[in-house]
Amino acid sequence: MFAASKKYPNDALEPYISSETQNFHFEKHHKGYAKTLENLIEGTQLEDLTIFEIMSLKDRVQDGLFDNLPQIFNNAYQFFNHDFYWNSLSKDGGKPSEKLSNAINECYGDLENFKQSYIDYASKLFGSGWSWFVYDDFENKIGFFNASNADNPLIYSKTPLLVVDLWEHAYYIDYRNDRKKYLENVIMHCLNWNFANSNFKDSV
Ligand code: FE2
Repeated sequence: MFAASKKYPNDALEPYISSETQNFHFEKHHKGYAKTLENLIEGTQLEDLTIFEIMSLKDRVQDGLFDNLPQIFNNAYQFFNHDFYWNSLSKDGGKPSEKLSNAINECYGDLENFKQSYIDYASKLFGSGWSWFVYDDFENKIGFFNASNADNPLIYSKTPLLVVDLWEHAYYIDYRNDRKKYLENVIMHCLNWNFANSNFKDSV
């Protein structure tokens, strides 16, 4: 049983993300991925696994072992990615911890330049996907990672710190085709640094 959850009401991110967008996004899309995943794994060996256990199988299970394996992984990652997205957003998300702030200043000069760099990097994603702020476990440094469709940095030994959803359903009601404006508003006003601090603390 995969329960989609969002810890704040739909109007919590107004005026940057509307209640209508949040309602559709959570009720139709996030819950839809959860329901589809449940239907796909019902009666299989995956039925009693956690979302992390299913996601961790991606590199180890050969296609053909289960029916609809690509769909299972796509829906599992989309379920996780949306959960991470809700947690990444807040209008009252605090500020980077001293440790994360030092890492940001070392790589980007200061927080404002970090935000502009994130906007510029995320804008380059072609099509639907996710723009992640990550800690690279191999290079031991923070950075950005654009991922198409349901892709996720965990597959590439990168620890997610924050994410912005760049599927059209995340912004089209509010911003129509102006994805850049959505990115600017979310990254400038809605990043949950308390969540990033927690993820960064656990990764280094
Ligand atoms: Fe989404």
